[in-house]
Amino acid sequence: MSDAVKLAPSILSADLSRLGEQVREVEMAGAAAIHIDVMDGRFVPVISMGTPIVEAARRVTSLTLDIHLMVVEPERHVGVFMDAGGDIINVHVEATVHPGRIAQEVRSRGKRVGICLNPGTPVSALEEILPEVDQVMVMSVNPGWSDQRFIEGALGKVESLRRLIDEGGLRVEIEVDGGVTPEIAPRCALAGANVVVAASAVFNDRASVGENLTELREALARVERV
Ligand code: DX5
Ligand code: ZN
Repeated sequence: MSDAVKLAPSILSADLSRLGEQVREVEMAGAAAIHIDVMDGRFVPVISMGTPIVEAARRVTSLTLDIHLMVVEPERHVGVFMDAGGDIINVHVEATVHPGRIAQEVRSRGKRVGICLNPGTPVSALEEILPEVDQVMVMSVNPGWSDQRFIEGALGKVESLRRLIDEGGLRVEIEVDGGVTPEIAPRCALAGANVVVAASAVFNDRASVGENLTELREALARVERV
């Protein structure tokens, strides 16, 4: 494996009363992106955060802001999340009938577009539009909450996607989101993922953000050397 797998901490588990500090901590600890989970209370049962949080994060970091839209009809919202400072706009294939149109709109503004797959959605749901996107996000939990158990079936989907991307000579990143720990992250990397998201494994009471990110990076480095 050549390129290092990137870490994208999700601020869903961060202490939002100290958002700036927490973002700077993950930046100092070598994170590649900040993952922001947007939930609308319809696509998933809960409501989480919206554009004000993206704007606040944008003010304190130049890291990539990876926006995960868990909302119905995301085509109604992609514009404001780009305006707020999002760099990668990820929409669920289950939430829209026109993922291709969203991909065009996002790319026309010079931003990157990702398509997310729920655990129950097969890779075939996005095969046709794979050449038009920059990233595929494989959900390894049912979206809605952090700190859930990793769903093993996600690894087979990552492997299938890796094959499709390599065979097609495409430049599409594979991101795994949900239940990632220092034990799970290397298995995602071996299956072919480029980016792993982690919320509760980064922001918790067990250790500092820096220590947690170092543990994840060291676990990944062990497989990258193989
Ligand atoms: C789940 C979110 C995830 C979540 C991950 O709906 O999309 O990004 O924050 O949390 P952990 O890493 O704790 O499973
Ligand atoms: Zn997410």
